[in-house]
Amino acid sequence: MTLSSTPATVSSLRAEYRDDTGFVAVAAPRLSWKSASDVGDWTQASAELESDGESVLLEGRDSVLVDWPFAPLAAGDSRSVRVRVTGSDGATSDWSEALVVEAGFVAEGGWTAPLLKASVSRGVGHPLLVRGEFDAPAGVTRALLFATAQGVYQAEVNGTEVDDQILKPGWTAYQHRLVHETTDITDLVRPGVNAVGVRLAGGWFTETFGFQGKEAPFYGTEPAVAVQIVLTLADGSTTTIAADDTWLTHADGPILASGIYAGESYDARLEPAGWSSPGFAGEGWERATAVTGFPTPTPRSSPAVRVTDELGVQQVITSPSGRTILDFGQNLVGRLRITVAGEAGHTVTLRHAEVLENGELGLRPLRRAEATDHYTLAGGGQETWEPRFTFHGFRYAEVENWPGELDPADVTAVVFHSDMVRTGWFDSSHELVNKLHENVVWGMRGNFLYLPTDCPQRDERLGWTGDIQVFAPTASYLYESDGFLASWLEDLALEQGERDGVVPFIVPDVLGTFSAPAAAWGDAATVVPSVLLERFGDRGVLQTQYPSMRDWADTLLRLSGERLLWEGSFQFGDWLDPDAPADFPADAKTDADIVASAHVFLSVDLVAKAAVELGYDDDAAKYRGIAEAVRAAFRREYVTASGRMVSDAQTAYGMAIVFGLAENKDEEQRMGDRLATLVRGAGYRIGTGFVGTPLVTDALTRTGHLEVAGRLLTQTENPSWLYPVTMGATTIWERWDSMLEDGSINPGEMTSFNHYALGAVADWMHRSLAGLAPAAPGYRVIRIEPRPLPEFDYATTSHETPYGLASAGWVREGDRVVVSAVVPANTTAEVVLPGSTEVIEVGSGEHRWTVDAPAPEKETGELTIHSDLARIIDDREAYDSVLAAITAADPEAARSFRSHTKWVPGRSLFDELMMTSAVVVQAAERAMAQRGGAA
Ligand code: BGC
Repeated sequence: MTLSSTPATVSSLRAEYRDDTGFVAVAAPRLSWKSASDVGDWTQASAELESDGESVLLEGRDSVLVDWPFAPLAAGDSRSVRVRVTGSDGATSDWSEALVVEAGFVAEGGWTAPLLKASVSRGVGHPLLVRGEFDAPAGVTRALLFATAQGVYQAEVNGTEVDDQILKPGWTAYQHRLVHETTDITDLVRPGVNAVGVRLAGGWFTETFGFQGKEAPFYGTEPAVAVQIVLTLADGSTTTIAADDTWLTHADGPILASGIYAGESYDARLEPAGWSSPGFAGEGWERATAVTGFPTPTPRSSPAVRVTDELGVQQVITSPSGRTILDFGQNLVGRLRITVAGEAGHTVTLRHAEVLENGELGLRPLRRAEATDHYTLAGGGQETWEPRFTFHGFRYAEVENWPGELDPADVTAVVFHSDMVRTGWFDSSHELVNKLHENVVWGMRGNFLYLPTDCPQRDERLGWTGDIQVFAPTASYLYESDGFLASWLEDLALEQGERDGVVPFIVPDVLGTFSAPAAAWGDAATVVPSVLLERFGDRGVLQTQYPSMRDWADTLLRLSGERLLWEGSFQFGDWLDPDAPADFPADAKTDADIVASAHVFLSVDLVAKAAVELGYDDDAAKYRGIAEAVRAAFRREYVTASGRMVSDAQTAYGMAIVFGLAENKDEEQRMGDRLATLVRGAGYRIGTGFVGTPLVTDALTRTGHLEVAGRLLTQTENPSWLYPVTMGATTIWERWDSMLEDGSINPGEMTSFNHYALGAVADWMHRSLAGLAPAAPGYRVIRIEPRPLPEFDYATTSHETPYGLASAGWVREGDRVVVSAVVPANTTAEVVLPGSTEVIEVGSGEHRWTVDAPAPEKETGELTIHSDLARIIDDREAYDSVLAAITAADPEAARSFRSHTKWVPGRSLFDELMMTSAVVVQAAERAMAQRGGAA
């Protein structure tokens, strides 16, 4: 039976959730591997896992996040694991490469190191150097450093930094959870005296958070660090060194001040030579104060933050006021590295901003964030420096007081973020759409720094729940964000736990009392774990988060009372609807109560589904029943008999269709038709905010209005996804018009140029335009359903699924469309080809189909000034020529025409222009006549 078969190869064996280290955070890490086979239709029949002579045979197809089949790891344990797979054809692969899995945790009760801080406070967040020494016997075979901080730190052993990680240990809900790094320092430790030096600053721990005069440090005012070292000898015995109050602190080190928002000031003259090497003795070092009573540190489970890119100066600009501004050509997150020579004591200042306004740095959007670094030279040759404990969101940097001539090569922008593996790509024939996609990727890179943030530049950079609620699917496609988001969800549950089930606006919550349950924000509790199941097959996270999910649903039900409608409360609603005034972003077209009640349904429905998935039958039945009752209440209150909604606005229909609030397919179709009418009525420009934007293209696609979605995606007029691209955006903006058409910055308070939320459309581009979607958790079954749009000649996407690389796409060839797909081994796909509804089932391998191209856009026929507005907008050229003619005749009238015209059937262009001047009417008439060739 095995004679004719070709064995698969198996690779990428990994233990959850990190592949940037062999240390694991849990005693029984789940294992995943990927198989590849030259033979199509390959599925795994069984897998054999082997570790240190012990072998376990697992029957069946499971290869993603498979339960650890060996005895749980104890602290200090390390095991080598390998896997081989047998296909359904009976052929068995070779063994995979061995994966060494090492416990990254300390034993229960084994964390003994206190937190060390300065004995005398030098003011909020004052940076410190901390040092201590320890003796190592000869014959150390393994030395591990476990360290954490209330603040941010980097450790050095015998003068060498222990790793390349940045801003450790990141930001968690510190009052509940402190994370430690586990670092292999075996190579740095030597027999005899060893020194450990720690640079420490306040970071997020001492940062001043809050708005409107309520700004204050939330966690504490002084940074502190805890260090524990475990040495293992050849005989297996271990010695633990816990840094205590015999260690020394120094408050007059080179970092004079440091803040996440403020930036950093560094005086190179104050760097004490040899301070982290053995035998150092310097002035001004005092015994540390040891503090206990903090949460026992737990190991980092999400990827570390590292430098992932470096960008050079693209242009040196002299601003109208004579300042020197460097343009890096990309809005990014990180900091500058400078190489400079000059006199001792000379200070260079670097100030960062995302955009220019009137040729100068646009600083107003940064609000309280100074985003300014100062470097004071030590003198005596070239010096290279970059700040350590801050980060900035910027494309431009102003350099002040540079000694001598600035050589652009002396300044580099260093990009960093949580170092997740890139897994998603998109390409198409539409250059602007490709750029939009690239901007989405950059938006994610800038905002995935230990936690998912709203924006990386101003005085926020907070874990706003609503933003990641809408962006999680996109994030999960572009990067492997499972571990990253699972870690953040732990904090969400902890914060929620002390608020009686209410999920705060932001996680970690540093706004104190400034929080309330808010629809679409708190629903991150139910949505994000569901996304992690869908995209990564992560049942474990679903199970861990299930109590949090259920508590949120129960909270919503409590708030909704007997009528099962959540009404009258504070809401952000469809935040930043383009029609909301600049100073009141919550004033959306869709009533906030409708947003709230729709999300009650969404969350209860997700809890019911999670309960089914986890086999919690009682809950499954209970929440399914409640979900149906909520749906009925919602429809009774907000949906008319004909399928209209009480807020006749795009977001209302988007939610009803995508969340599944319609009573049946007929009603859903009527809602979709109305939605399409509204989108066209708005001139195919965006009519939605944070809540509706990720839904509208899906709602249109699902109800047969794909081309309407295509018009929306390819629109370049403001508001649209591509308007920012035409304005030179290199990231996704917070507002549709963060920069106004005249190049000035939107006057609203909330004006960032790097917010990922509105980039959530990328998920639709992957799933619907190129056509690659999960049809079973973790892409074990893949849905391939490409949808050619008239504006594109091709679109293609690929995604490194938990099973391996999958891709889907299509290309026009004359009047045919060629669809191609790659289905990874051990998965299957259901394929729906353009123009068909038939579902074709295929197995793994490369596939290709050729079909007739979908019919081109409907001809609109001859158009005159008396034609219907709906027909005119559907004919792009007609619309463009009318708009151009009116703009030439009267720009002010054109502006009004553009923003007020409802492109609906039943009203003619002539009717619309009735109240305008004769010049405008004639211009429009002429434009239409020229097109039609008629008089
Ligand atoms: C943030 C958001 C957040 C919002 C709450 C803003 O300040 O930047 O993205 O979701 O507040 O409505």
